[in-house]
Amino acid sequence: ARPAPRLEAPQDDWTNLRQEARQCRLCPLHCHATQLVFGEGPEQARWMMIGEQPGDQEDLQGRPFVGPAGGVLDAALAQTGLDRQEAYLTNAVKHFKFVPRGKRRIHQTPNAEEISACRTWLAREIELVRPQLLVTLGATALSALGKGKLSTLRGRFHGAPTQSYTHFATVHPSYLLRLPDPSRQAQEKKQFQQDFNAIARWL
Ligand code: URA
Repeated sequence: ARPAPRLEAPQDDWTNLRQEARQCRLCPLHCHATQLVFGEGPEQARWMMIGEQPGDQEDLQGRPFVGPAGGVLDAALAQTGLDRQEAYLTNAVKHFKFVPRGKRRIHQTPNAEEISACRTWLAREIELVRPQLLVTLGATALSALGKGKLSTLRGRFHGAPTQSYTHFATVHPSYLLRLPDPSRQAQEKKQFQQDFNAIARWL
């Protein structure tokens, strides 16, 4: 069941949050990114997924997970019958971090300061959505939530009395795309799919 509604007046709302976030200057990443990519999905979603940061396509289109990593995620969701539209999908860091190389923009992993600066937006999204299940995709999302190591937490549901949601950790879909060895990639894709099967059963 959903947690009981709070009785006090809401301290925050979506309009404020999106407007404030759009003007974010809390770290230097806004200088080179096209735009801030905010989360999307139902405001009262039952579950939420957190990725790392927008990639090249996301930066241009202004929506999370619309590039190659989004394709891997969509395939895993489709196989379980889960509907992406029912989840709230966001990133730990909301501006694209990259280095230019010729015509391409090469993704750079956000550092601890950037993750920490952006945590304010993520915390407010979690507070507003109040998901029952929160799925982290990869190590950056885990770090943004102050959780432990991916290798220890992966593939299981974690609850805590101080936490309003159940947490599930899996790898980032881009990790699967980067694996050079096809048989290793097939094996990792299978495990990623098993993680989503477990999520679907939980939901
Ligand atoms: N990778 C992410 O972590 N998030 C996106 O939105 C796209 C790629």
